[in-house]
Amino acid sequence: MSEKKNPVSAAAEKIAGKVQDAVSTGNEIPGAPGPEPAQLDEPTKPRGPLPPKHDQRGPETVSPTGQPTGAGQDKVAQGGAYLTTAQGARLYDTDHSLKAGPRGPVLLQDHHLREKITHFDHERIPERVVHARGAAAHGVFRAYGAAAGITKAAFLAEGAETPVFVRFSTVLGSRGSADTVRDTRGFATKFYTDEGVFDLVGNNIPVFFIQDAIKFPDIIHAGKPHPDREIPQAQSAHDTFWDFVTLHTEATHHTLWNMSDRGIPRSYRMMEGFGVHTFRLVNAEGATTLVKFHWKPKLGVHSQVWEEAQITAGMDPDFHRRDLADAIEAGAFPQWELGVQTFPDTEDQMFEGIDLLDPTKIVPEELAPVRPIGLMTLNANPSNYFAETEQVAFHVGHLVPGIDVTNDALMQGRLFSYVDTQITRLGGPNFAQLPINRTHAPVNDMLRDGMHQTAVHRGVAPYRPNSLDGGCPFVAGADTGAYIEVPVEVPAARKVRDAAASFDDHFSQARLFWLSMTPTEREHITAAYTFELGKCWDQAVKERGLKVLANIDPQLCAHVAEGLGLPAPEATVPLASPEPSPALSQLGHTWPVDGRIVGIVTDGESGLDAVQEARGAVLDAGMVPLVIAPSGGKLGPDSDPVTVQRTFTTARSIEFDAIVVACAPAPAPDAYGARDAKTDDAATATGVDPRVLLLVTEAFRHGKAIGACGDGATVLEKAGLATDAPGVVAGGAASTVLDGITELLAGHRAWDRFTPAL
Ligand code: HEM
Repeated sequence: MSEKKNPVSAAAEKIAGKVQDAVSTGNEIPGAPGPEPAQLDEPTKPRGPLPPKHDQRGPETVSPTGQPTGAGQDKVAQGGAYLTTAQGARLYDTDHSLKAGPRGPVLLQDHHLREKITHFDHERIPERVVHARGAAAHGVFRAYGAAAGITKAAFLAEGAETPVFVRFSTVLGSRGSADTVRDTRGFATKFYTDEGVFDLVGNNIPVFFIQDAIKFPDIIHAGKPHPDREIPQAQSAHDTFWDFVTLHTEATHHTLWNMSDRGIPRSYRMMEGFGVHTFRLVNAEGATTLVKFHWKPKLGVHSQVWEEAQITAGMDPDFHRRDLADAIEAGAFPQWELGVQTFPDTEDQMFEGIDLLDPTKIVPEELAPVRPIGLMTLNANPSNYFAETEQVAFHVGHLVPGIDVTNDALMQGRLFSYVDTQITRLGGPNFAQLPINRTHAPVNDMLRDGMHQTAVHRGVAPYRPNSLDGGCPFVAGADTGAYIEVPVEVPAARKVRDAAASFDDHFSQARLFWLSMTPTEREHITAAYTFELGKCWDQAVKERGLKVLANIDPQLCAHVAEGLGLPAPEATVPLASPEPSPALSQLGHTWPVDGRIVGIVTDGESGLDAVQEARGAVLDAGMVPLVIAPSGGKLGPDSDPVTVQRTFTTARSIEFDAIVVACAPAPAPDAYGARDAKTDDAATATGVDPRVLLLVTEAFRHGKAIGACGDGATVLEKAGLATDAPGVVAGGAASTVLDGITELLAGHRAWDRFTPAL
């Protein structure tokens, strides 16, 4: 890696610094709704709009035609202290319609009423047909220069810095669905390069369900809710999904990734990203190289466990978008290295027997290592969700000189689909002019008019050739930066609706994935299939699911069959014996702990020194401490108070990566079933608040690190948890416990707490 300084520890320093700064201003924890605290009474003194929060940024202020306007970002938002109409006329009342007398009918002439209601009536636009639910952030990409020999793309030249906007998403759910459902995640990056916009529209899974875009409506119709009852929302655990993927077995490999821990990420910050398709890069000399793009997260690839994901979907359906925004707000800027696997551009476009045009296949990293070519840092949250995250429009065809497409039939169909859908979604053909979509390169197209035209084009000759506008615009050449498609040969062939024979292998790489998993990961996959097929109603669909599994691995098939109460069928194809690819496993390494959330439990009275010490240690490690107490408010002396962020009522284990119990809180006054169903009247007899027992037992079940200082060990004992169990650090000073917790968090979870049978 050509990176000189360690950006991760820089980020850790930043978060500790920022959170400390926030502490000194009384705003300890990310998530404050505005840049300054609200006052109790309604403000009446006129003043201008507040600035954005420190972590927020809007799109660059370039014109609809890509030219710097010099306008400050505040000039594209609302201004002035007084309420106005959309035309800027000041208003004196927006609470009452204009009526014929206080009890009379509303008058048609009330233009303010009509403007307000009409605009409101049209606030919604169609959600994306797929990937409707998402969250995004601004950032910067800095190229190492390692790809300069294989592509002339200027943004990949050494040291080039390019603004980016990244949107992460789920595929199946509606815009209001939960973040933590089992699904593939979108990972779409817009690079605002000097040569035009380049979009890398990828996923967190390197393969796809289908080999040809013509099947996209089929897989999506199967995955979306059933058309009659419109259930289930944002789920693959239903008959139509499994009906399709078990009949259309080219989906097997992707489905297996979905059933693995990759389908339930811990955080968008902890996902890999993949361009999936093979791209063709071309350098200044015209030499071409085939590549696959990879995003490697600095924080490692981590997941929730399934029960945790399900609880999260109810407790905090915004878990992933909150996590992303909070981390950026706290200064723990997420980072990914962009890397490429490179392959010779041979006539057959195969590498080591793997068809590079088949998007259901990977090339194991052990065969073709991922070479890092740049670093992306996400460092600002959007300032308006709708204007930026909702209106951003990615497109596989947004390419810059040096990057070209291949004949992958999935990619080719995508080249048509994105613009087409965006014309409907964004209400006409001019969505490239929306601020978030504007290129930072000067635009001189001959596209004119259309709904919502915001450029004010000059001249009389939007056609070529012309002489009336002086011949402008002129076409460029290779030496003046034109995008010129690589003139690859298209072999003489007959028109067919068909695919290459190599596309018929649907199982060998699924088996490669399975064999590359650790026993713990295999257990999770087995449980996922058992759950998902178990939720299907139709017996034939379940049986067919088992037939597919038999072609991946007999042990996997047998265990799922056992769970379904069905016989395990025999494989119908010879089982491949691929070399496992350890790079596919998520486990077994250590990673930075930036931005991890540590819950610190206190009874609000005893052991406050330990709470302070634990908070300090969490901050020093670049993580975020959340203090959990029986009720809200501030604890300890006024000179050095501890702010409570969660109460026993609001806290749930899913929010924390680790829990530290600083004392043994007795049942709080509201710890009885009639008030809080999370409590357990029988457990109250243990002398410990049952919500705290639930917190630690749930965290334990989910493999999380648990620490206890002071009387905290009593809580573990009352919860029936051994203080010497793997992943438990009990006894000693708070800072010592935190050292242990930090070390455990570097490995994500204490997987050795559970014994895998597989
Ligand atoms: C390798 C396969 C694919 C990947 C990695 C992929 C990835 C993505 C991502 C990340 C998004 C969300 C973009 C955003 O955040 O706004 C998206 C949206 C979309 N994709 Fe794909 N997709 C794939 C295949 C396809 C295919 C085959 C089609 C259709 C033929 C398709 C059609 C769409 C459409 C219509 C949208 C919504 C776009 C919008 O409304 O702006 N995708 N895709």
